[in-house]
Parts: sequence; structure tokens; C-alpha cells
Amino acid sequence: MAETPRSDLLVLFGGTGDLARRMLLPSLYFLDVDGFLPEGFRIVASARAELSREAFLEQVHSDLEARPEGLDDKAWARFSGRLDYVAADATSAEGLAALAPHMAGAARPMFYLAISPSLYSRVGVALAAAGFATDDSRIVLEKPIGRDLESSRAINIAVGAVFDEERIFRIDHYLGKETVQNLIALRFANTLFEPLWNNLTIDHVQITVAETEGVGDRWPYYDEYGALRDMLQNHMLQLLCLVAMEPPSDLEPDSVRNEKVKVLRSLRPFTRADAQNASVRGQYTEGVVGGKSASGYEKERGKASDIETFVALRADIDNWRWAGVPFFLRTGKRLPERRTSIAIQFKPVPHSIFDGQARQDLMANRLVIDLQPDEDIELLLMNKAPGITAGGMRLQSLPLSLSLMKAYEGPGARRRIAYERLLLDVIRGNSTLFVRRDEVEAAWRWVDGVADAWKEAGMAPKPYAAGSWGPAGAFALIERSERAWYD
Ligand code: BG6
Repeated sequence: MAETPRSDLLVLFGGTGDLARRMLLPSLYFLDVDGFLPEGFRIVASARAELSREAFLEQVHSDLEARPEGLDDKAWARFSGRLDYVAADATSAEGLAALAPHMAGAARPMFYLAISPSLYSRVGVALAAAGFATDDSRIVLEKPIGRDLESSRAINIAVGAVFDEERIFRIDHYLGKETVQNLIALRFANTLFEPLWNNLTIDHVQITVAETEGVGDRWPYYDEYGALRDMLQNHMLQLLCLVAMEPPSDLEPDSVRNEKVKVLRSLRPFTRADAQNASVRGQYTEGVVGGKSASGYEKERGKASDIETFVALRADIDNWRWAGVPFFLRTGKRLPERRTSIAIQFKPVPHSIFDGQARQDLMANRLVIDLQPDEDIELLLMNKAPGITAGGMRLQSLPLSLSLMKAYEGPGARRRIAYERLLLDVIRGNSTLFVRRDEVEAAWRWVDGVADAWKEAGMAPKPYAAGSWGPAGAFALIERSERAWYD
């Protein structure tokens, strides 16, 4: 892949916000610790709040210190030297003028918008008016890009008028997760799986993104979006694309994204009947998670709400490879455990030669890709129960991701934050792991169809107790096809 020039400055809008403090600044710090930030690379955080550089540094210092990895004094001295803070209103050229002296000397700035998507268009226009959107600059947009197809298009048009598509980096942090990249390696660096990766051998696919946390004080954002728009439209459809896409010819950004967009366009549109039979909306009520009592969403929200904090649905991909193979997706807040996994369920053997106990024990193979909390890939294979007299068989797990496990052993080993890889890719100008405009719009088109079908069918979220696996309908949804969720 051709080397593109590296960015030399990051302007981080929303620099005092939750995402910046929890994910972005720590990611940049760790990149610096490992020597990945270019020489002279600077970071200018910006937000509306009046804050001195010293006060900002203090905040970042205490955030990093509170992390389990701990803070290295020498690394901090170097990292803090790169940091600056400027109070600015990013929605107008006049407001942005305050940044100019702090950007002096930067030839290839990147602007990261860790702010509300409702401001993206205005900030894009303001960056152009302030003269910052030069041909060598880049812009990074956090998900969600809009709230539906229409608002997403409006953002893409406004930002696209200022930055060329190859300079727009739409982040989906799931694409920065190590196991997600390992999924690409597993599929396309081995001959073993690809011949089986189709409707002749695969029965169905399950993608679960379960969280134990509730919405908490993020409700002003969440109450407008809900689980469908917050998680399924982006993270989960991206995972589905990586499982379902055809082999790209190489890892160039457009080669991979062309394949993903084809999958999104092949998703069967949702109808009103699908809404009732093939999807479930839920909202958590009070309950117990991890032994602690947890309040209901409406209590956190402070009033009644009809937004979903849980969604489960069946998606069908209408193409040759996947015809007849349902993809079951479910995600929710305040579920019993934090777990993200993809299960590829293979079909049973066509004919059993076994009898007695062994016939009863026979189960179909499964490939499970765990993204979190553990990053792991395991293959479930049938094995004879050991012993001369034992007639039975058992489904045994074979770990396939030895490299991943080893990476976290030993002194100094740690799991990288998904944003580290992605930030480094923006600095280097590699957009393979970012979402292209047509991709984000194809995802919205399908998700809008789901939301419209819910509306037509008058589907309000069903209550589920915090700490449970969602409304009973989520089980019925998969059981209707004589399958079950894997726990
Ligand atoms: C974010 C969503 O994009 O992803 C959050 O807005 C969600 O609601 C988070 O909690 C989950 O990310 P992760 O990496 O913890 O699975």
C-alpha cells in the first residue's frame, strides 16, 4: 500500500468530553509510550470550557493515573509536552480563530470530532471558512453519522463539500479491535474455512453484543438513538459485513469497502410482518446485575420513554453465498454479562453412522469468535469420549487464537484500546478500517427500514428486568426457527 504523508497535528474537538478522556487521550498516550507517534506530533484539545493548559494537563494526568496500567513519569513528560488546550467554539470561523496560533507550523492537521453528530455539518463548514480544511488535512467523524439516512446524507454532503472522501475518516471503534482483524486473518489467510463459508455448510450466525452497564447519564444522547441506532446500525452491521463479505482482492481501502457495501445492499428489507416476527425491542426495568441492584431506564431518564435499550432481530442476506442462512443479532444494556461474540454454527453431519449414546451426543460444529471481555477464537469439534468402554462423544473446544492469548502475558503486556490502531491509521492516512460514505448510507437505509417497520407495527419496547437476557420475545424469535442463543 502506498505510503501517505503522516499527520503532524491532531485537533481534538470535544477534548474534555467523555470519549476523549476515557478512550482517545489514553490511546494517544499509549501510542506515544510505544513510540508510534511521529516526532513533533502535537495534540490540541479543544472545547467550549475555559480551561488553562495546566488545568487540562492535570485532568489528563489524573485520568491516566487512575487507569489500571499506571502512568510512567518519563512517558508522561514526553506526552504532556505534545499537549495543548484551547477554548473555542468550533461551529464558526470566528470561534475557530482562537486555534490558529496553536496550529502554527502544522502542515497536515487532522481534526477529530468527538462531539454531537448534530454539529458535524456546522463544524465542517466552519473549518473551511477558517481556512483549516487544506488539501493535506483530514477529518475524523465518530459514529453515529446522523440519526437516519436523511440526516446522515446531510452530514456527508456538508462535510464532503469541504473534505474529499479519502480525507474523511468515519470511525467505528469495533473495527479497531484485535479479534475483528483476526477474523479477517482467519477467513483469508487460511484455506481451511473459506470453502465452508457459505450456505452449504453454515446453518446460521449469531452476533451478540451484551453490556452490563446501563445508559446512566448518557440518556440525553441515548434517548434519541436507542440500541438500534447506537449499536446495531454501526458496530453490529460492521461485524456482520466482515463475516459475510466476499474475499476482497487486497486490503486496499476500496477493495474491502466495496465488499462490505455489497453485503449491506443485499440485506433483505424489513417489512411490518418482520417487525413482529423477526425482531424484538426491549427496555430495562429495575433488577439486579452482578449482584448489585440496578435502576430501570425510565428512572435514569426521569420520565417515560419509548426508546429501546435492547434489540434482537433476524437479518437475511439475499445473495448466493448466504441464501437461507439467518444472521441473528442481539444487543442490550444491563444484561447479565459483558460479552461480544460471533458464533458461526455449522450444519450437522448429513448422516450419522453412530448409534446408542454417541448418536444422541452428536452435535454440529461451531466456530466462536469472542471479542470481549476475552479475545478468543475457538472451534467446537466432536470428539470420542475417552476410554475403552465409553461409547459416547462430546463437543470439545479447540482454542485457535494462541497468538492473542500470548500477547497478553508477561510483564508490560496489555490489551490495546481499539482506538489506538485507528488513530494510528488516521495519522498514517490508511482508511481501510474506516467506513465509506456509501457504506454508512446503505447501513442507514436498512436500519431506517427496521425503524419504519416498528413504527408501522406500533411496536413499543417490551420491559425486561435488568440482569436478564432481554424480553421473552428474544428467545421466541430464535426458537421459532428451532435454534437457540448460545450463552
Ligand atoms: C459505543 C456506544 O459506540 O459503544 C455505547 O455508543 C456502547 O453505547 C459502546 O456502550 C460499547 O463499546 P465497547 O467497546 O465497550 O463494546
